[in-house]
Amino acid sequence: MKPLKLGIAGLGTVGGGLLGLLQANGTHVANIIGREIRVTGISARNQSKERGIAVDGVEWFADPVALARDPSNDVFVELIGGEDGVAKAAVEAALSAKKHVVTANKALLAKHGVELARLAETNGVALNFEAAVAGGIPVIKTLREALGANRVKRVYGILNGTCNYILTQMQSENRAFDDVLKEAQALGYAEADPTFDIGGFDAAHKLALLTSLAFGTRVAFEQIHVEGIQSITQADIEAADSLGYRIKLLGVSMETESGIEARVSPVLINKDSAIAEVSGVTNAVAIDGNFSGNILLVGPGAGAKPTASAVAGDILDIARGLVVPPFVTPVAQLKAHRRAKLDQH
Ligand code: HSE
Repeated sequence: MKPLKLGIAGLGTVGGGLLGLLQANGTHVANIIGREIRVTGISARNQSKERGIAVDGVEWFADPVALARDPSNDVFVELIGGEDGVAKAAVEAALSAKKHVVTANKALLAKHGVELARLAETNGVALNFEAAVAGGIPVIKTLREALGANRVKRVYGILNGTCNYILTQMQSENRAFDDVLKEAQALGYAEADPTFDIGGFDAAHKLALLTSLAFGTRVAFEQIHVEGIQSITQADIEAADSLGYRIKLLGVSMETESGIEARVSPVLINKDSAIAEVSGVTNAVAIDGNFSGNILLVGPGAGAKPTASAVAGDILDIARGLVVPPFVTPVAQLKAHRRAKLDQH
């Protein structure tokens, strides 16, 4: 079978992780799927940066949109980030050129997911985004495929590794907020603008995507109530601890009689519960299906390797010929997101 050729735009934490994975596991993957995965084009801001990974023999593109349109690759992998600008233009260009797209860009999908999904469906290509939610945890595939026959009652969890890392370190090591945030940035967990993490917006982007998959609604980031962890102090954490609780930033989405309630906020969780024990950069996503029961997925929520693993899984699906509508339901069948009145609960 012909190799599957990739054009990769963006060589930051995740892009570097993906090249490392393909280098380390490329032969293993080719043996499993009976097909080689080959990087043929790359676009990154800094071509001369030393990354410790071989990119020889690969064509460099100054413009990601030109890479997206280039017919010498079959799949465009968007790892640039950002909800508008060049990432959006490049994804649109690739889909319009009938090229499969794999992206880790939750901000882009939370804002433009419906129009991009429509473009993918119209052109009969994949728009895969496993890495956009909860890093290495296969939550998109779980909702889209394994639990696809369920009516989901509720989906909730720890969706931001940086915040969970900060809260855990404040709790267990008595460290200062800003100090831990700087470390999370150095470890490659935080967003380029870390206010997206600590302000709850990154978790809300992910919750918007989960809500769409779980309830078959249009992605509706604006309908989510968002509170971050900026105002959580050491005293709050100690007070919660003395009462038997941990403070966690949770994203929760559920269908109520008045519509879908979706919120991201710091909450008190009983120390004995499974989610309270999820520490560090680990994420946890609970999905309550009407036949499956409550499924809890736990794993690394950020960082180069786990996120690259999710991107690579999406690429494997394409190599195997699996193309499904991005949001389970074709765009024409997505329901409007009717927001519950939060003050009723
Ligand atoms: N900044 C994100 C987090 C990266 O900390 O969870 C993974 O989406």
